[in-house]
Amino acid sequence: MRAFQSSLYALSILNLLSCTEKEPGLKDYFEDDFFIGAAVNLGQVTGKEVGADSLLSLHFSSITSENGLKWGPVHPKDGEYNFEYGDAYVALGEKMDAFIIGHTLVWHQQTPSWVFQNGEGQFLDKSGLIRRMEDHIETVVGRYKGKIHGWDVVNEAFEDDGTWRKTHWYNITGQEFIKSAFRKAHQADPDAELYYNDYNVWKPEKRKAILALARELRSEGIRIDGIGMQGHYRLNSPSLDQIEQAILEIHEAGFQVMVTELDVDILPRPSDSEGADLNINYAESPEWNPYSDSLPDSVAMKLVDRYSSLFQLFQKHTDKISRVTFWGLHDGKSWLNNWPVRGRTNYALLFDREKKLKSGFLEKFEKP
Ligand code: GLA
Repeated sequence: MRAFQSSLYALSILNLLSCTEKEPGLKDYFEDDFFIGAAVNLGQVTGKEVGADSLLSLHFSSITSENGLKWGPVHPKDGEYNFEYGDAYVALGEKMDAFIIGHTLVWHQQTPSWVFQNGEGQFLDKSGLIRRMEDHIETVVGRYKGKIHGWDVVNEAFEDDGTWRKTHWYNITGQEFIKSAFRKAHQADPDAELYYNDYNVWKPEKRKAILALARELRSEGIRIDGIGMQGHYRLNSPSLDQIEQAILEIHEAGFQVMVTELDVDILPRPSDSEGADLNINYAESPEWNPYSDSLPDSVAMKLVDRYSSLFQLFQKHTDKISRVTFWGLHDGKSWLNNWPVRGRTNYALLFDREKKLKSGFLEKFEKP
């Protein structure tokens, strides 16, 4: 009886050991290559979404603030800041020992209209707007000095054809807002990396304009470390060659390459729009939501194949790419369920709605 009991004991110890021996996560597969990141929302940073923190800790080495540090949420009114999200976000990143990204300081979207106006509702002049922007940057970057490791300082300042996007920022200050934003961010945290971030960087005209700007900043002694390519891709577009060309040119110009907002939209679109222009919106209709119940295996396979070939390309350029970040943690929380058509069921990420890694992806890469 005693022998039986002790062999049972030995068995249970063995069991325990094999359970605690963790399978490597996604981040471990690419540990020598680049950070693997995810954009996280309020429910995920505050622990309201059950299981999000363990998924993040196992699979991700970097996080990006999805919405909570954009101007609207963090600075909704003149003189009123809301750091509930930001503080929880940074605490989560520290717990994960992650490379923490702040997104984003200056953008034309999700920025309240008061930002551009005086008390009488008239547009500010150039120096007034720059001062307001600098105060914002000093407050937000300053609060997380030494904690947030890299900032998307300016988001989406160019149109796809390489012309300046005619936003309030540009219309009021010309290019000045960009230079002042980078200068101020550097002053507020001299150790933080600073990035310019945009979608459709694979389009040559747009990329040319972005790189010209980045070179100009650098030649004036203004810190800029890298270019974020948002990576809102589709199954067949852009081509791997187009993406590779962008990686090569950004690197050649002397900047870090980051894939900052990766997802693959598998749903049909009412028009051929690409990228992430939030102004585009089409009416809901079942024809644009073909997989509302489930995703056919053939399409699921295409998605995993697309992700595999993208990561094979990224691995070919590990000397150039510092981070690959998914725009969302799992399909259930992807913005592509609501853009460019609201209320759809999309499958754009590598983790499904049950927070399971989609099968067939990891098998294509060397196990660490
Ligand atoms: C852009 C922005 C992100 C996010 C996505 C989709 O790419 O940079 O912050 O808003 O659009 O919503």
